[in-house]
This record gives sequence, C-alpha cells and structure tokens, in this order.
Amino acid sequence: MSRDSGDNLNRNRSANLPMADVMQAHLSRRSMLRGSLGAAVAMIAGAGLGGSLLAQAASPTLAPTRPTTANGKPVRLDFTSIPGSRTDACTLAAGYSAYVLAPWGTPLNDQARPWQADGSNTARDQANAMGMHHDGMHFFPLDGRSDDGLLAINFEYIDPAALHPHGPTSTADGKRPAEEVRKEINAHGAGVVRLSKRNGRWQVIDNDPLNRRFTTASRMLIAGPLRGSEHVKTRYSPDGTHCRGTNNNCGNGYTPWGTYLTCEENWPTIFVNKAPLPADQARLGVATSSGQYRWESAAGDASEAQDEFARFDITPRGAGAADDYRNEASTFGYIVEIDPYDGQALATKRTALGRFRHEGCCPGRAEAGKPLVWYMGDDSNNEYLYKFVSSARWDPADANPHDRLATGAKYLDHGTLYVARFDADGSGVWLALESTSQTTDGSTLGTRFGDLASILLNTRGAADAVGATPMDRPEWTAVNPLNGDGYVTLTNNSVRTPSTVNAANPRGPNRHGHIVRWHDSDDQRSFTWDIFVFGGNASGAADINRSGLSELNQFASPDGMRFDSRGVLWFETDNSETTLTDYTNDQLLAVVPTQLLDAAGQQVPIDASNQADLRRFFVGPNGCEVTGIAFTPDNKTLFVNIQHPANWPSSERATDVTAPGHSVRPRSATVVIQRDDGGEIGTA
Ligand code: FEO
Ligand code: CA
Ligand code: CA
Repeated sequence: MSRDSGDNLNRNRSANLPMADVMQAHLSRRSMLRGSLGAAVAMIAGAGLGGSLLAQAASPTLAPTRPTTANGKPVRLDFTSIPGSRTDACTLAAGYSAYVLAPWGTPLNDQARPWQADGSNTARDQANAMGMHHDGMHFFPLDGRSDDGLLAINFEYIDPAALHPHGPTSTADGKRPAEEVRKEINAHGAGVVRLSKRNGRWQVIDNDPLNRRFTTASRMLIAGPLRGSEHVKTRYSPDGTHCRGTNNNCGNGYTPWGTYLTCEENWPTIFVNKAPLPADQARLGVATSSGQYRWESAAGDASEAQDEFARFDITPRGAGAADDYRNEASTFGYIVEIDPYDGQALATKRTALGRFRHEGCCPGRAEAGKPLVWYMGDDSNNEYLYKFVSSARWDPADANPHDRLATGAKYLDHGTLYVARFDADGSGVWLALESTSQTTDGSTLGTRFGDLASILLNTRGAADAVGATPMDRPEWTAVNPLNGDGYVTLTNNSVRTPSTVNAANPRGPNRHGHIVRWHDSDDQRSFTWDIFVFGGNASGAADINRSGLSELNQFASPDGMRFDSRGVLWFETDNSETTLTDYTNDQLLAVVPTQLLDAAGQQVPIDASNQADLRRFFVGPNGCEVTGIAFTPDNKTLFVNIQHPANWPSSERATDVTAPGHSVRPRSATVVIQRDDGGEIGTA
C-alpha cells in the first residue's frame, strides 16, 4: 500500500505516548542492574547501541527450540543473497526461476472477456476476473496436493489511471460515470482461483466452479457481537444481519479448518460523512468532504440499483438507521472469513476480532484442548497490536468439518479481543477489551463505551482507554511453527518523535521500520518480547543500522511476512525511504530465527555478528511493492505478489526487463517461484 491508497495518518489522540523522560527512567533503572547506564542514555539520545541493548535485555526468555528437517538436520538457507536491483523486472537467487500468473484482469469464467491492453474491459468483465493490486493470499490444496489447489487472494486497491482507458473521468455536472464506478468497485475485494500444475507449470483453470470474486458490492453476512446490533442496521439490512462488500483487503490469515481470512485496511476513505463524525469514525478517519474515489457522486444515476452508489454517502438523512446508510461504514473494518472450498457460501464478517484498519491475521499454533489465537496489526502511525483468543478450545476433529463456516462461528464469534502493552523491561501485558476492563482513568470499558458491540465498534478508542502501546504502524504478524513465537512488522513511523519513543518503538522518527518478536504466557495474558531486527541502510549511522546490516540484506519498511512450515521467516518490503530506494526496489528476504543462538542456546536478535544469515532472495520491478506470500504444502512452489509495478510485466517471464522506451499498462500479478532442480524453496 504505497501509492494512491488510504492514509496511515496518526489519529491517536490518547495519552498513551510516553515522554522521553519516562523512557529514560525505565531504561536507567534496568541498565543500572546491567551495569550499563551510559549505553541506555546513549540510546535515548539516538547515539547508538540502543537496539541491541533493548533486544538483549528481553531475549533470554524466548524459546530456544532448534528446527530440524525430517532427516534430523537443522534447517539452513542454501541460497546466496543477491544484490539490490532497480529495473523493470524481477530478480531472484541463482538456481530459481519465476513466471507471471493470474495478473489483474485474468478471466475467471466466460462472463469476462480477455483482458484488454487498452483498458476497455467493462465492469461486468471486472466482476468475473482477477481484481487489481494483488496483496495477501493463501494456498488451499485440493486433496492435500501440491500440484492442484485454490489460491485465495486479496485485491487491495485500484490505480484508476491504469484501470480505465484514459484514467478516471467525470460527467459535465461533476459526477462519476456509473459504469466507471462499478468497475472500480468490482476491481476491489478478494477472490478464489483454481490453480493446477500441468507439465510443470501452474495455470489458472478457467470456469472452475470454485472460481469466484468478492467485490465491494458482494452480499455478506455479519456475525459475532455486532450482528443484529443497532450499529449495523441499514436500509439494505434493517435487521443488521447482512451487508455489502469488502474493501482494501490488505494482509490475510487463515484457519485450521481450511478457510481464508481477508483483512479490511484502508476502507474508511471510500465513505463520506458530511455531518459531525461519531467517535469511531473520527478515530478511523472517515472522509468528510468527498469519498476517495467519489463513488457517492454516481448516486441518482438512472441505472442505479439498490442504492449501490448512494450507500457511500453515510451522512444521516432519514428518520432512523433503517432509512439511510448512516451505519454503512460500521459494516467495514473487520476480519472476513471465506470458505474457498464452497463456491456459494457468503463471506462472513467476524466482528469479534475488532474493527480497525486490519492488516493481517496470523493464527497461533493450534493445540488440542487449548484456545485458538490470531494476531492482528492495525496499520497507521501509533496504532496497536491485537490478538483474539477463542472461547472454544481446539478440537482436532474440527480440522475437516462438514460446514466450515459453522466451525468459524464456533471459534471466531466467541472469545476475547486483547491489545498489547509492551513494557520497557522486556515483558508485556495483553489487555482485554471487554466491558469489565479497567481503563487508565479508573473507569471501565463498559462504562465508557457500553456493551461489547459498542466497544468493538470503536476498538481503537477502547485500546486507547486501557493504555495500549502505540506502535510504528503494525503490519503483518507471523508465528514460528517450531516454538510459537509471534512476530510483527512495524513498517515505519514518520511522526514518532524523540519525545514519544517507547521501548518497543525506540526510534523517532522511525524511517526504516523494525520487527518485534514476542512469546505468550500459557494463560495468554502476558508475554516477553524483543526487537528481532531493525531496518536500516548499511551505510547508515549506528542509530540507523542498529542490526549491522550489509548491502546484501539492507532493507526498510518490512510489511508482508510469514513463516513456512519449516521455520523459515520470509518478509517483504513496501519501502519509500530513499536511503534504500537509491539502492534497490522492494524485496523478499529470508532468515531462520531459531538458528540465531547465543552460546547458551538462547535465541538472539540479528546483529553484526550473525546478519549474514538474513538473505535477500528476490527483488521486484520498479515502482512495485512485494507483498502476499504463500507456499504449497511441499514447499516447492512459492507464490509472491507484485503490486503496483510501474512498467511491468512485459512477458510471462517475470525476470524479463521491459524494453527501454517501451510502456506497458502495468498489471499487478502473482509471481510463481520454483527451484530449477525441483527442490524445496530456500533450504538444503
Ligand atoms: Fe496495505 Fe498496511 O499495507
Ligand atoms: Ca505497507
Ligand atoms: Ca501491507
């Protein structure tokens, strides 16, 4: 999400931004115990050493598990890190090849014409084809196979200049044309596409009955505490049980019962509210003069059906909620569950997991008899890290249910949403967001906000009230399958200042981002944490290059991230920091965290002594963000997405450079990466 999308502005007006003197007091106490007061003060002053100090203070409590392969050998990366690249092509590690699959506009069925290079595809075509700006995704095998399956995928946002023949237009009276608006609505959302590997090459299976699209107009179910509440009643659904559409689907998650979770991120600006904003809308950033794409301006068009455009103007106008769309925005901002194996089931908004600018939703390890857990970032400056803990305990018999969405209701509609407070001593607390929760001003969330539905509606406000730690734009989360450690990418924070740093976000401003790691207690109420790696440029000062990175792994703005089943951590970048853009386009890096151990066998962060184990595997074309990552069960196919490239792809071979002077209509696409010898991706 780096171009033409929603904003990541700081809307946190809470008092949860600690002053530097408070930070210094914390650090001074701890550092005196460690006999290193000078280093702590130096960190506060931004003069160096700080990152590793903090990280080392917390790391000894993290689990030291060593990963092993089936033959008992430790997992090790066996590719050579590649240099940066700034071309209209993908580059990748030696011994691998990459090709383009299912770019924007690829038909999913016969309702769509083939993609037209002149931009002339219709709204109907777009509703039956791959959407724009591929993002999070997950591979769901058919019959457990690694050569046949379903790719569930997000289409985050649109580039109107590329979507239409000559960019977006308006009519003489300033309205957007209905057909253009419908095409834009249909280019957003998510999809499921059947893929099959034939003669060694993955292909889209056109017209497969499981191929489908979910757009910003698709009928959906509302489930969980908001279902049927006053907050989600609309003229479309007066009983508050259904809604239309999903939007700005960024990161993703999945469940142990075979469903996909798509996350609604920068949706608030597709709406406009010209009346004073209620607290939740102000906290989330709903637009106040016009929607981002002015979809509302097509209202009243002779072809309009069921208020398809009017619903984006949420200004209260009727006698009550069932008479207008004042609550339309309250049906967005959720985790949405999709059953990829059922071509008819409605997508379902799981409101118990909170309402904010959801980035990703990674599950913890599923262990029989224990609650299930999902971790979630809220990507804006100074927002929070959340987790949801199910009330039901995991029954492995639910892994292959007859009705997947009923299983979803069991685990995702009842539970507790928590928000993280990172304390400076390397410990942390998960603060429950429920009506009895104490607020920092001595009240309770129930008193401040009302019932659970009302608390969840304004999740950010509730998190402010319990004293959560403002983070540097939490993007994706990932969980190490070998030991359960959680990781979150903190992409950057341009508005953090030296006076508002905290222990988990120690740079102000933070232009390069970092990755925080934690390990939860058995009761899910607390955790220990450290900073796993700091983004930075190799030539940066000590306070910038805190992890001792070299040219071969320097990065900034970590974003997409996942562990594969072997315990390799892969992360992607969405960077605009010039000390890195001058060297390389966005990229995919890999590291095996459980191989980074000290002499006592404890996990340690990345630092100058072990940084060579963080390796650059792939670099995308000019202008793009590398995002979305999925593996087949055998780890022999890796899918990544190229989002918003500038002048790519020019052929099916992802590594072909677009000829100088030649312009292509850019298409976001999935890139398939395979090892030339047919082996597993990345490891020996
Ligand atoms: Fe859509 Fe936060 O990236
Ligand atoms: Ca991003
Ligand atoms: Ca992202």
